[in-house]
Amino acid sequence: MAKTLFDTVTVGKLDLPNRLAMAPMTRSRAAAGGLATELTAEYYAQRAGAGLIITEGVQPSVIGQGSIDTPGLHNAEQVKAWRRVTDAVHDRDGRIFAQLWHSGRVAHPSLYPDGRLPVAPSAVPSGGQMTARDGTMLDHPTPHALTVAEIAQTIADFAQAARNAIDAGFDVVELHGANGYLIQQFLSDNVNLRTDEYGDKIRFAVEVAHAVTEAIGPERTAIRLSPGNPYNNIEESDPMGVYTRLVRALHPDLAYVHLLEVGNRRVTEEVRAAWPGVLMLNPHSGTTPVYAGMHASPEAAEEALTVADVISLGALWLANPDLPERVRRGGPYNEPDRATFYGGDHEGCTDYPALS
Ligand code: PHB
Repeated sequence: MAKTLFDTVTVGKLDLPNRLAMAPMTRSRAAAGGLATELTAEYYAQRAGAGLIITEGVQPSVIGQGSIDTPGLHNAEQVKAWRRVTDAVHDRDGRIFAQLWHSGRVAHPSLYPDGRLPVAPSAVPSGGQMTARDGTMLDHPTPHALTVAEIAQTIADFAQAARNAIDAGFDVVELHGANGYLIQQFLSDNVNLRTDEYGDKIRFAVEVAHAVTEAIGPERTAIRLSPGNPYNNIEESDPMGVYTRLVRALHPDLAYVHLLEVGNRRVTEEVRAAWPGVLMLNPHSGTTPVYAGMHASPEAAEEALTVADVISLGALWLANPDLPERVRRGGPYNEPDRATFYGGDHEGCTDYPALS
């Protein structure tokens, strides 16, 4: 019989009640100092019926931050703030995974106390911009190319942030290897121009995953990838080759590999064939590169179970705190409001109604 979204599944050491995961979504509502808040706790707790929740991206270090008002996991105060969130989700029998997101070149010096340059594999600017708090658009500068010693420090930062995540009560850590941020910058052809050992496109991703695996265990480590996604001006000439090689080099007992599909099911199938563990898929929803905001339908989610074990959805979860119940009943669904995706207060965050 075909799998359904309501079949149970084991991810790492966790038994999930359903296969409907909440995809990571930036909400830009952290308090000063990169702190999760009461609102963060309420937002995720409302969605505890998910098979698992993946948080918004969380910077693993000061320099890992790429946009305003995102939370961190690199100091004790941040760990303490997240503890309230993980407790709130666990109190409702949910599971919550922290996404570690290093933005690399997709960032701006104004985010850092010392105003230093963002970092990348090579000194190639993104061509994009960051929105400042006052709404002005700031060009991403030409980043500083990481030295080998700085790469080692960056990997150590990921491992420490992963330990912090476990201290904060998270069940699993997902590494953000997608959407043109630092890890994908290393995987790409146009941002990784290195001639040293890190010119091997997969090396940095593999070393980060291994360091985190050593720190917290493979069953608590996962990675999200978006083969061929041009978002943030990434160019990849051979996603099939690079990503199948990458997943073969990962520890086979990782909690899962999470793919954001960008319109190429063939790549998903090839990665599926190359990866022996749990595969999570954020299915393709439209004609353009997808990230936050483009939403796949519940039907697309069900269909994606033909190729993956767990399905993640973004905007539908954002707007429907009781999504599994709505899928069971065949809807109706609240529409996500783009105007309140980023920043602000409870509006567009904790005020989407559940079915009565
Ligand atoms: C965003 O904030 O728009 C964003 C963040 C991380 C992603 C994609 C989009 O992976």
